[in-house]
Amino acid sequence: AAARLAAPKQPLLNPARLAPFVDPLPRPARARPVGRREHPAWPGRLLPCYRMEMRAFAARLHRDLPPTPQWGYAGSSPGPTIEVERDEAVLVEWANALPARHFLPIDHTIHGAERDKPEVRAVTHVHGARVPADSDGWPEDWYVPGRSALGRYPNAQDAATLWYHDHAMGITRLNIYAGLYGAWLVRDAQERALGLPTDECDLPLFLCDRLIGRDGQLYYPVSDDPAAPWVMQCQGNAVLCNGKLFPYLDVEPRRYRLRLLNVANSSFFELALTHGLVFRQVGSDQGLLPAPVEHSRITLYPAERADVVVDFAGLARQRVQLQLQLHGGGILEFRVGERGRHDDSALPARLRPVPRLDVAAARDRVLTLGEVDDAGGNALRMLLDGKRWSDPVSERPHAGAVETWSFVNLSGDAHPVHLHLVRFQVLERRPFDLFAWNARRELKYTGPAQPPPPHEAGWKDTVRADPGMVTRIAVRFEGEPGRYVWHCHLLEHEDNEMMRPYELLPA
Ligand code: C2O
Ligand code: CU
Repeated sequence: AAARLAAPKQPLLNPARLAPFVDPLPRPARARPVGRREHPAWPGRLLPCYRMEMRAFAARLHRDLPPTPQWGYAGSSPGPTIEVERDEAVLVEWANALPARHFLPIDHTIHGAERDKPEVRAVTHVHGARVPADSDGWPEDWYVPGRSALGRYPNAQDAATLWYHDHAMGITRLNIYAGLYGAWLVRDAQERALGLPTDECDLPLFLCDRLIGRDGQLYYPVSDDPAAPWVMQCQGNAVLCNGKLFPYLDVEPRRYRLRLLNVANSSFFELALTHGLVFRQVGSDQGLLPAPVEHSRITLYPAERADVVVDFAGLARQRVQLQLQLHGGGILEFRVGERGRHDDSALPARLRPVPRLDVAAARDRVLTLGEVDDAGGNALRMLLDGKRWSDPVSERPHAGAVETWSFVNLSGDAHPVHLHLVRFQVLERRPFDLFAWNARRELKYTGPAQPPPPHEAGWKDTVRADPGMVTRIAVRFEGEPGRYVWHCHLLEHEDNEMMRPYELLPA
């Protein structure tokens, strides 16, 4: 029941016609606190406070294209990077200074009540952050242009590559597509002691695909089919890296730490390097792996991160590309210089231990993914455990408890499942009999459990749940009691009912 797509109003760009690698790779600016402030929930603590204003702006995606209207934090996309030290709390005032009308088509959302809501609304979530519920970016706590929200962030967690992005109910897919995302890096002493590349040799690479017209405008696909009013996946015609098409980066022949983030709506990326270079992956979503994992290819589903070290030593005067394995297209060109300063970085063989969670006494929740609900006049909602957003809260773990969640994927797609607040471990993926499930709701396995590969054996916050598989994770629910959410990070699914609340109860 895939939607028929309406033709875009302008012809689409053929990216192969653009001159590749003519724009320098933008490095997101580092955000600076604007002062010190108190949060009403933390009286008596004067904390560094950032101010992030969401604004419309226009920027060229490529030298030869006209400027593209976008939305971004501080008027850029990616927005400025917030860099914090573990256990140092900060505040952020997230200000909505967006125009009154959306520039992307907003009328095709499935949420029935959408039509009663203001067209432009926003609320920011810091993906992967352990935060009190009041600052988590609850999707219904959106606010309109002219308003802002003050979030409090304890940063009481291991060093990791987190990211912030919009999370407004029903339109997250459009707000992120418009450009509302940026990096939030937590650093800590233990990671620093490893001596990984730092400063200009440590940078985020935000990857996302977009549908771009010949006029340089962003298109969001719309359905032509009243029976399937929303578009279940949004695939672009080009991949942006830090907001540019085919940028280049001048590098020295030495080690670099690249934090790869998939911030696409629904595309996964299979990445590779030319010249036989390998990725040495040192971290995943929630920080360091126990040991570096070497691969020639990395696959990232939406919202997943891979923290990698790439060594350009011995490649002086070469032009190395970061490429998409599937389409063979270059995304980013590294221009390796003649020589650089002495490389004093390190890549230790041991990084940070990841003690396995003890799940012997854990409660297991069996939750289905991707059941379709076409009742109620709004065709095709993608559901989590057969429930809608507005159904009563059914997952209510106690603070401190370890649980396992088993995601039974009933659909034909892989879904990247994300839980707010917590970090988790992937236990296994195991094939099951879909017919036995559909007929009797019986969970019958048809093959052995597959343990996660080494790069998925660290702390994660988003896991790919494959079709035909039960994907099982172990979670310790650390954090403050309150309401949080879990959802599919394919943004089209998330906006169309594939998101559920969960409630953390006191210990
Ligand atoms: Cu990346 Cu609920 O978010
Ligand atoms: Cu999904």
